[in-house]
Amino acid sequence: MKKHPHALHTVVKAACATLALAGFVVASNAAHAADAGNGKVLAESHNCAACHGPNLNKPVSPEYPKLAGQHADYIYWALRQYQMGNGNPHLGRNNAIMQAQVQSLSQNDMKDLAAYIESLNGDLVQKK
Ligand code: HEC
Repeated sequence: MKKHPHALHTVVKAACATLALAGFVVASNAAHAADAGNGKVLAESHNCAACHGPNLNKPVSPEYPKLAGQHADYIYWALRQYQMGNGNPHLGRNNAIMQAQVQSLSQNDMKDLAAYIESLNGDLVQKK
């Protein structure tokens, strides 16, 4: 008996739709990839340089760390830790100044800021 010609077609169509959906999910994740340009805008609007200095590389006071050039994953996690703050005694970072800086930031904002900070030339890199 001859198979119904539409059966295979339907299966192929369904498979294509699944692939297209998978592709969309990957693409939309990529769309949320860190945007250093937006990070720069955020750093300026939040005035990070007021304490971390010009180019986030010359802190205005010794207790304010240099940021420029630091790895993005470290910066992102540090910002998340300030956001968790005292509410998470195991993972949170307890610093009132930085806790205040990060409260309004979304996860994507922090990723963008981190990408921007990593892109900056700074003195943090250890000379080998
Ligand atoms: C009012 C001063 C001030 C401002 C404004 C400020 N910071 Fe900070 N920042 C600090 C201080 C002080 C510390 C050290 C806190 C500590 O001891 O945990 C710090 C620490 C950090 C750290 C941790 C660095 C490390 O090596 O662990 C990051 C990341 C950071 N700031 C990012 C930012 C970003 C991004 C902004 C702007 C959204 C910003 N800061 C605005 C004062 C400031």
